Order: sequence, then C-alpha cells, then structure tokens
Amino acid sequence: MKFSTIALHEAQEPEKGTGAVITPIYQTTTFAQDVPGELKAGYDYSRSGNPTREVLEKVLAKLEGGTHGFAFASGLGAFTTLVMSFLDSGDHIVVGDDAYGGTFRSLDKVFTRYNINSSFVDMTNPEEVRNAITPQTKMVYLETPTNPTLKLADIAAITAIAKEHKLISVVDNTFATPYLQNPLSLGADIVLHSTTKYINGHSDVVGGALVTNNAKYAEAIGFHQNSLGATPDVFAAWLTLRGLKTLSVRMDKHVSNAMAIAKFLEAHDKVEAVIYPGLESHPQHDIANKQMKAPGGMISVRVKGDKAAVNRFFPELKYFILAESLGGVESLLEIPSIMTHAALTQEGRDKLGITDNLIRLSVGIEDIDDLIEDLDRALAAM
Ligand SMILES: Cc1ncc(COP(=O)(O)O)c(C=O)c1O
Repeated sequence: MKFSTIALHEAQEPEKGTGAVITPIYQTTTFAQDVPGELKAGYDYSRSGNPTREVLEKVLAKLEGGTHGFAFASGLGAFTTLVMSFLDSGDHIVVGDDAYGGTFRSLDKVFTRYNINSSFVDMTNPEEVRNAITPQTKMVYLETPTNPTLKLADIAAITAIAKEHKLISVVDNTFATPYLQNPLSLGADIVLHSTTKYINGHSDVVGGALVTNNAKYAEAIGFHQNSLGATPDVFAAWLTLRGLKTLSVRMDKHVSNAMAIAKFLEAHDKVEAVIYPGLESHPQHDIANKQMKAPGGMISVRVKGDKAAVNRFFPELKYFILAESLGGVESLLEIPSIMTHAALTQEGRDKLGITDNLIRLSVGIEDIDDLIEDLDRALAAM
C-alpha cells in the first residue's frame, strides 16, 4: 500500500460482527474476562490498550515506515514518556537550539530536577552536534523544520553521528508530517509527533505519538506509556484517526498554498524577508530538496517595520486567525516574540532571530486567491 491507501486501509477492515466500515469508538475503560487473567482479545484496561487507539497507533507506525506506534494525550506527553523511557539521572541529551518552547521548558525546568541535562546547539551544522556529545550523552533530539525560523537539520548526517557514538536519535516530525519526510528511513531511531497539528489537522484534538522500527525501543516505550499513563482518551484517538485519513490531500493543498504565498510575499515591497524551505533564498533549500518531498505549509515572514507595524497588520486579516498552534485546515498567524516565544529572554530571542517584526503563518487550505487578497490588504494597511 502507498501512503494515502495506508491512511485509509491499514488495520481498518470493516468490523467482522457488524460490517461497520469505520473503526468503532470503543468507549470503555475495561474489558470482560470469562476466565480470570485470560484476555479475550488482548485487552484488559484502556490505559494499557484500547482497540480504537491501537488502530491509530498501527496507522501512524505504518505511515512513518515504522513497526511500532504509540499514541499519547499530547505531544509533550509523548516527549515526557520518551525521556523517561531512555534517560536516567546523570544522562545528557543534545537538542536543537530552537526546539519547540514546551520541549525546551520541560528539559530546562523539569528534567534538570532529575539531573537529566541538555545542550542546545545549532543543528544546521552537524559538527555542533558532534562537539556537544559527552560521555554522559544518551540521545540526540532534533526538529526539522524548526519553529518559528524554519531552520532545517540534515537528518541523515546527524543520525549518522548519533550512530557513531551509539546514541538514540529522535526526530520531531510535527512540522513536516510523514507525508513529506520520513526520518526513520534517514537513520533516526524514533519519531515524535504532536498529532495536535497536521496529523489530526482540524484544530480540535490535542495529541502526540512516538513511532520506532526498533523492537527493543518499542518495548521500553510501551512499558512507560502504560506506567506513566499519558495516554489519549478514546474519542480523541478516534478523531485523530479520522483526521489522519485526509493527511495527504490536506498536505498537498497546504504546500501549494504556502508556495504561492511565499512567492507573493517575497515580491512584496512591505516585506523584508520570507523564510520558507521551498524558496531558493532559504539557506538550507538544498537540504529541503534532499530530505523532504515538499517544503510544508509553514512560512515565517519579516515585515518592513516594527512592533507597531505588526500591530497594524494583523487586525486587518479576515481569514488568517491570530492564534497559537498550527497545522489545521484554517489559516492561522502568530507573532512569536509576544506569543509562542514570549517566555524566552530578549537575548534568547535575538540569538534565534525572533525579531519583533517576525510573523509566523500556518497556511490553511482555503482558496489561495482569498488568502493572498487577505495578506495584501493587511500589508497595505500596515
Ligand atoms: C514541533 C512541536 N513539537 C511538540 C509540540 C508539543 O505538542 P503538544 O502541544 O501536542 O503537547 C509542539 C506544540 O506546539 C510542536 O510545535
């Protein structure tokens, strides 16, 4: 099966008893046993396993080219479970310097309390990863593209360094999705998703996932998924499975809209710079071509002007909604310096290029003419 077929048919045959075409919502906490300790279909309690969640896990695994998938209540629930599955007190992780803010916060403020320490490095240069490895390092954790400056890391080069040092390599594939990028095929051991974003795709479910093709790692993750309990509610799992069915068609439209908008913005006289991996002006455009099927639906743009100009820009928009998060069918925009990245110090934002005039767009699947007209009007008002 190819990608779109997997999304619709992997582990999703019509139900035997009723013929139901769509996977039922097994809204139950517990499962009856005829003989104590003998499970009818392998299920005893829904934190440990639930048939609806299991279908989602199987589809996610297959779409990422993995053998084992695990669903979580959020992307950060997946991340917490990942760290607790593989790291002990005294261990060290090498992480991208512009990892998602919540990932950074949990490493910086929570895991340091358990003596699990991190080095944050610029992953656009794989040698920085090599230089940050210490005898305590157990894991290399990267995001690509990153948020909000859409930097790309060379997955094959970095996972090769991790392998040389016998480290577990993990890629947060939230921005790209398995439709556009498959880190396991590029050497990664584990893929993480905030399924809240493109995978569910409708801005109505918070969720997360881990996928691996390594049976030993899968055993550790499965044990900790059950032991730590950050599992998704059954209905959330079902909604995510429903959203996932249309991932390929949504992504095609996100990408074609984003490409058109990136080109429009790049030619606009009120725009200082456009950051989009699909543009030749992107510093790692060649890496995008090498490891991504297409450059995704996220664009960051520096408008000409200051905070006041930005404040004149966004209220004029009709279709781009000012809100955090991304990857839904509707277009969103956010201003990282005062929204998603407000918790960083000014120095931290300066280092990452998160300037006051930086705007992040999550390009939706609306009609492209309406989106361009919307941006054009707001830029004129600015
Ligand atoms: C790249 C990335 N990874 C992980 C997360 C965390 O996911 P969640 O919000 O589902 O906990 C996010 C959330 O914005 C994200 O953007």
